[in-house]
Amino acid sequence: MDRPFVTINVAATADGKIDTFEKRGAAISSARDKERVDRLRAEADAVMVGGHTLHDEDPTLTVKSESLRAERLAHGLSANPAKVSVSSRLHLTPDADFLNVGAARVFLFTTSQTDEAQLTMLRSCGAQIFIQEGGRVNLISMLETLKKRDIHRLMVEGGATLNFELMRLGLVDELTIYLAPLIFGGETAPTIAAGSGLVRSDAIPLKLVESQAWDDGGVLLRYRFEKRSK
Ligand SMILES: NC(=O)c1ccc[n+]([C@@H]2O[C@H](COP(=O)([O-])OP(=O)(O)OC[C@H]3O[C@@H](n4cnc5c(N)ncnc54)[C@H](OP(=O)(O)O)[C@@H]3O)[C@@H](O)[C@H]2O)c1
Repeated sequence: MDRPFVTINVAATADGKIDTFEKRGAAISSARDKERVDRLRAEADAVMVGGHTLHDEDPTLTVKSESLRAERLAHGLSANPAKVSVSSRLHLTPDADFLNVGAARVFLFTTSQTDEAQLTMLRSCGAQIFIQEGGRVNLISMLETLKKRDIHRLMVEGGATLNFELMRLGLVDELTIYLAPLIFGGETAPTIAAGSGLVRSDAIPLKLVESQAWDDGGVLLRYRFEKRSK
C-alpha cells in the first residue's frame, strides 16, 4: 500500500501511563521535550490524534515556535502541518480550537453515523471530511487517502486506542517515547497502547534505534518496527 511514513510520539510516565485516571490530558513532557515535539510537528506534513483526544481535549496541533513556523513558510509550506482525526461519530462545536486556532488544512475521517448538521458545520469551517461505510473507519484506506493529498510524513500524537490500532495493523514506522521520571499508577489510566490487546505470540517487535538520558530526568527512546514473522 502507498501510505505516509508514520511516526507515533508519546509522552509517558515510568509506569507507561500517558494520562492519569482522571483523563484530563495531564502534562507529562518536560520543557525540553515540548521543544522536541514542536520540531517533530514542524517536520511533519500532518499531525493526527484519535477521536477521544480530539473531543475531550480539543488540541490545536499547531507548531508553537514562531521560528519553526517561519522555516516552514520559507520552504513554501503552510505555517502548520495539516490536522487529522478519526471518529465514527464527530461531534465538534464550531468554536473548537482544533478547527479555529492556527491556519492548517483539516482532514476528518468518519462514518455515516456523523449527522448532517455536524458535517455542514465542519465543511463551513473548511474541513475536508471523508465518510466511510460501516461502524468504524478503515485506517488503511485513511492513510492511502492522506498520501494522495500529499501527506508523506504523518505524526500521530495518541491516544492509546489509535496508537494500538495503527501498530496492530502494521501501519507505523517509528515510535518515539519520552519517558518522564513520574509514576501515575491507576488501573484505568491510559497507557501507550490500549485497544483489545495481543497474546504474547502476537506481540509487536520493536528495534531500539536511539536512547538518550536527559538532564531533566527523562529518557528519550526511539524505536523502529521490526518485520513480523507471521
Ligand atoms: N501523553 C501523550 O502523549 C498523549 C497524547 C494523546 C492523548 N493522550 C491521552 O490519551 C487518552 C485518550 O486515549 P483513548 O485511547 O481514550 O482515545 P484516542 O486514541 O484518542 O481515540 C480513540 C477513538 O478514535 C476513534 N476511532 C475511529 N476509528 C478508529 C479506528 N479505526 N481505530 C482506532 N480509533 C478509531 C474512536 O472513537 P469513536 O468512538 O468516536 O469512533 C476511538 O474510540 C487521553 O487521556 C489523553 O490525554 C496522551
